Formats: sequence, C-alpha cells, structure tokens
Amino acid sequence: MTRYQKSHELYQRACRSLAGGVASEFRKYGYPHPLFYERGAGSRVYDVDGNEYLDFTLSQGPLILGHSHPEVLARVHESSQRGQLYAGQHLEELELAETLQRLIPCAELMRFSLSGSEADHAALRLARAVTGKYKFLKFEGHYHGWFDGVSFSISAASEDAMGPREQPNIVPWTQGLPPQAANDLIVLPWNDLELAEKTLREHAGELAAVISSPAMCNAGCIAPRSGFLQGLRQLCDELGIVLIFDEVITGFRLGMAGGQGYFDVTPDLAVFGKAMASGYPISVLAGKRNYMEWIADGRVIHAGTMNSGNPSIAAALATIEVLERDAVHPRLFELGRELMEGLRDAARRAGQAMLVQGFGPAFHTGFTPLESVNDFRDTLSYDKAKYQKFMAGMHDRGIRLIGRGIWYLSAAHTSADVQQAIDTAYDILKTL
Ligand SMILES: Cc1ncc(COP(=O)(O)O)c(C=O)c1O
Repeated sequence: MTRYQKSHELYQRACRSLAGGVASEFRKYGYPHPLFYERGAGSRVYDVDGNEYLDFTLSQGPLILGHSHPEVLARVHESSQRGQLYAGQHLEELELAETLQRLIPCAELMRFSLSGSEADHAALRLARAVTGKYKFLKFEGHYHGWFDGVSFSISAASEDAMGPREQPNIVPWTQGLPPQAANDLIVLPWNDLELAEKTLREHAGELAAVISSPAMCNAGCIAPRSGFLQGLRQLCDELGIVLIFDEVITGFRLGMAGGQGYFDVTPDLAVFGKAMASGYPISVLAGKRNYMEWIADGRVIHAGTMNSGNPSIAAALATIEVLERDAVHPRLFELGRELMEGLRDAARRAGQAMLVQGFGPAFHTGFTPLESVNDFRDTLSYDKAKYQKFMAGMHDRGIRLIGRGIWYLSAAHTSADVQQAIDTAYDILKTL
C-alpha cells in the first residue's frame, strides 16, 4: 500500500472514462500521477488517501483567499438558493460590473464569460474588427488560453526549435491547428522593446493587436523590464494597434487594479479570470469605451449561454469584497517576500543554484546558473529534471507545488505555513 494507493486506483479507473484520466491537459502532470482530492480548507488540501498538503498550487492561481473561504461559500449558497441562471440580467451582475469599473483602469465597459481562453478570444476578435486588420503579435512563452489562434510558441523543446531571436519560428503547441492560424501571427521574445519596436513599425499595416500579460507569470514569473510596457503602449498608440493585457494571472493577484495598476500602464482591452472569483467560472473582457462599443451595438458578437450565472457572480462579489475589506495584498506581498527570502537562504545553505524570482503573491523557483531570467528563452536553462525531484520530495513531505515552478500564495497562508515550506525545502534541497 503506497502513500497514494487510493488515488492510484481511482486514476486507473478514470483513464477508462476520462481522456488521460483528467479534465484538463495541465492536470495530467500531477505527482506521482494525477491525484484525487476530497476537500480543501484554507491553505490546506486533502487527498483521498488522507494525505494533507500545504497548497501552493491554489488550483493554478484562482484560490487567492484559500480553499473554501466561508464568506465566498455563503454568498454562493445564498445566491444559488434564489436561482442559477436567468438568461437575463440580475442586480448582482450589474453590481459586479460597477465594482470592476471602479477598480480596473481600462474597464470602461465589459462583458463576462466563463474562462480566460474565451475572453482572450473575444479580445482578439474585437481588435480585428475595430482596426480592420487581422494579424496579432504574441510573445514567446506567454499563454493566452488553448484556442487555435493563440496555441503557438507557448513552449518549445529547445532554443533551436524556436529559431532566430529576431524572427522566431511559430511553434505549434498542439496538433489539429488550421495552418492559416499561424499566418495571422507574429511571435517575438518578450521584454525586448527594441525588437518589438522594429517589428511593430514594419508590420503596423497588418497588425490588429499586441497581446501580452503585464508580467510573464506562466514561465519564470518575469517582470517587464523598465519601460517595456510603457514602450508597447506608446507604439500601439502611434501605430493604431490595440494593446491587450492578459491579466488572467496578474488580475487581483498583483493588486485590485491588476498588472495595469501595478505597472501603471493602461491597455485598451484586458482579460481577467482566475483569482477574481475564488475558483468559480467567470472571466471578464474589459476595455475602453470606443472599443467595447463595437460589442455593445452588435458589430462584434460576444455570447454565451452560461455567462454571468449566479454562483460565479456571487463568488466574484464576495472575493473582491474580502480582498478590499481585509487589505489582503500588502500582507500577501510581505508573506511572499518572507517565503522567497527563506527559500533563497535555504538554497544557499544547501549549496543549490535555485533562482527565486517574482512578486510574492506569485513567484517562481527553478534550478539555473542564471542570476535572473528575462524571457522565455532564458527559462530553457532551468534544470527541469532536478525540479521534478524537488517537487516530488516536497510533495511526499506534504507540500504541494506546481511542476512548472510557479508558487501561489493566498490570504489563508500564515507565517507558520511559510516556515514549514522553507524548512521542508531545505531538507529536500540537501538531498538533491
Ligand atoms: C495568462 C493566462 N491567460 C489565459 C489563460 C486561460 O484561462 P482559462 O484556463 O480560464 O481558459 C490562462 C490559464 O492558465 C493564463 O494563465
């Protein structure tokens, strides 16, 4: 009987009905195989074998208040008692829109969807309609959901596969993409304003949009270089290109105004999801009025049977209320700083070259000789096999991490949790 026996049996069974035994590609990479969970509370989650984990995955980011926050659950319950979905408007939806208008600089008008992927898709459609142009620029390593148009240059086997820096290959992420999708795309390394400027000027006549996360949290938790986002803003203004920020991770994680508030650069359109609603399905396409009016008057169609369901709207309202009332972000940054510092110190003491980089509420750890990682090509220097061993060791000791190296913190995490993670990390790092 192993520590993961029941999960193992359920996983074998799941492979007979669920493709790959899971409901999302990213869940396939659970250690030692996809696990089955029974419940979550605060900073902890429990699997069917009775193992308890201090959770730094937070469901890939959404659980900014921790698992099963009582106020979120109560609000969802109360709202669901009155109904689920009206195929019509309700007051709470309006209240949420007004709250987001108050908090998010670019949110003059908005629409709700269910997932980040959908809202990114809508943003690109809108940008194409408004500009009358069809191409868009995305950056290597950035993830904007799994839809066809953006399923390129998310990962790569090697730098060779990525081609020259100045003119990267467009690397498909999956089979099944229509060949013309790649023709609509220009790809560049992130964080290189000079290269972005040259490319944007050359292709201004065909580029509808630049899409970027304000910080590259998915790979390396990389901050934009000083002036990079501001430079994109100026170039897009000058060249008639729509600037889209994908705030699916940065939104409500770097602060109530997302990455656009944190870095003080306002995009034309932005997409929010994840941390906004504590794990309930909702995303937002928010943007400046002159763009969003194209959706308002139906020149651009955005739709969805399930949009703005009561539970999701209630969860978002409750999450935002608690985040504001309890001033959660300053504490998350402070706790994150403690954890990042503690991990750096543990790695130093254990003689390991572990780079700890990021913001606090989200950050990244990985084994690399580099002193900082500034774009996706730099992330290829990470020793992934070693990180898998580190993650496995932590997991067997009750600390749940994401295999890609990103850590998320929640309002439910305490200083004692942080200390437990640092002590355990030191023990594991010594053995690598
Ligand atoms: C930056 C970013 N954009 C978009 C998405 C897609 O969001 P969803 O998984 O809700 O479709 C993700 C998901 O991880 C993301 O991290």
